[in-house]
Amino acid sequence: MSGPIHPPLCRVDQIMEVMQAAFDPAWGEAWNRRQIEDSLAMPNVFVLLVDSSGDLVNADAGASGLAAGFVLARHAPGEEELLLIAVRPEFRRRGIGEALIRQLAQDARARGAERIFLEMRENNPASSLYHKVGFEPIGRRKAYYLFADGTRMDAITFGLSI
Ligand SMILES: CC(C)(COP(=O)(O)OP(=O)(O)OC[C@H]1O[C@@H](n2cnc3c(N)ncnc32)[C@H](O)[C@@H]1OP(=O)(O)O)[C@@H](O)C(=O)NCCC(=O)NCCS
Repeated sequence: MSGPIHPPLCRVDQIMEVMQAAFDPAWGEAWNRRQIEDSLAMPNVFVLLVDSSGDLVNADAGASGLAAGFVLARHAPGEEELLLIAVRPEFRRRGIGEALIRQLAQDARARGAERIFLEMRENNPASSLYHKVGFEPIGRRKAYYLFADGTRMDAITFGLSI
């Protein structure tokens, strides 16, 4: 008899599993469990989770297996902010990140948003993905990020009309 490979995971578990696999600790960009729990408790924060086929995981349906990626966004009148996007390294370059953003754009529009914004450290390779789906750089905050080794990096703001 074959049992599940992983014990059932709740939505926060699924997000944290991807978070720990996806973010390079050197940048200190991963959120901790408390930050995720607090943000998901807000009525205007939304998460999309996908499995390794890029299909949406219905997180509200209860516990499930490992997710391959997620995107987290916060709604405000007329706009949404993409807070975090991550895909496990072993599932990258298969279109999962792109599918997550396109689904987010569709959902955000249905929620009444006309623009999506995000902020990233300059030189993050994720910028190629953002450009591919139509985001445009609209601002720069000089030396916005401070890293553990004392170096600073600019933040680039991107915007996408949806
Ligand atoms: C950024 C990230 C989510 C992309 O996920 P992904 O599933 O690999 O993205 P996709 O496969 O949908 O990429 C679509 C396109 O974006 C571009 N792209 C994505 N990742 C890229 C990279 N590392 N380098 C160059 N181009 C890249 C490519 O044009 C790619 O199309 P192609 O594979 O046909 O060339 C993933 O690399 C990741 O989790 N990174 C670590 C977390 C992070 O930094 N998140 C952003 C800040 S919150």
